Amino acid sequence: MNVPMKGEEVADAIPANVFAEKVTEVQHYTDRLFRFRITRPSSFRFRSGEFVMIGLMINGKPLYRAYSIASPSWDEEIEFFSIKVPDGPLTQHLQKIEVGDTVLMKKKPTGTLVHDALLPGKRLYMFSTGTGIAPFASIIRDPETYEKFDDVILTHTCREVAELQYGEDLVAQIKDDPLIGEIAAGKLRLFNSVTREDYPRQGRITDLIESGELFKHLGVEPLNPEVDRGMICGSMQMINDTKDLLEKAGLREGANNKPLEFVVERAFVG
Ligand code: A2P
Repeated sequence: MNVPMKGEEVADAIPANVFAEKVTEVQHYTDRLFRFRITRPSSFRFRSGEFVMIGLMINGKPLYRAYSIASPSWDEEIEFFSIKVPDGPLTQHLQKIEVGDTVLMKKKPTGTLVHDALLPGKRLYMFSTGTGIAPFASIIRDPETYEKFDDVILTHTCREVAELQYGEDLVAQIKDDPLIGEIAAGKLRLFNSVTREDYPRQGRITDLIESGELFKHLGVEPLNPEVDRGMICGSMQMINDTKDLLEKAGLREGANNKPLEFVVERAFVG
């Protein structure tokens, strides 16, 4: 394998707008999903929920894809949660990284799944499918989330039960975290469901919103633009379908320069 390259070999080829960072941890969940962490350059700043271009040198050329940063803005390292696509131009290589390997990261983060793009509200819904949970892994570890909202609900829907593990581990760890454990404890709730295997909660999030099952399970009123705010991250189709339901309930799509009731971002694939 000629990727990823190690330290010195990479140094010459790195342009000024790119960091070359070391992998510090890799965890595989299924044959489709894995998580990894890299060192954080001291000058790298981002807002929880943003994404950045990351890449590898492949046959002597850098190849990048957009990845949501899954760690919060205060963390000492940077975490990513990735799909593995057998023929994916980047992920077929990225899934083989090991501790000590080098990953390239462009210096400029961006994105709309940020607190700045939402009006103040009472309840924050984060709707995710598959690796779409990544930006929310950042947001639910950010104290600002709990300063701004009384009720923080993360929904995660996957095809298979094993794919829920990342979200479950994350929420369990947060509850034990010395920094945010206490403030998150009474506010953060994980609602997950599965679509292609048996599980106590079954079905697409869109169906669970439409049928009212989600709200019944949480013991809350249906979506209301006065109090509810939303963030959506998944496939293009999932985003569009969820967005339609939020709009039907009277929520409007916002942006960094025009905060409103919900925001969307497409999860990385490929
Ligand atoms: P399903 O199994 O019914 O396709 P994927 O891995 O394809 O991105 O899917 C992740 C999860 O998102 C799956 O549980 C899948 O359900 C669900 N999903 C796919 N398309 C939509 C959609 N348009 N709206 C809501 N959920 C969706």
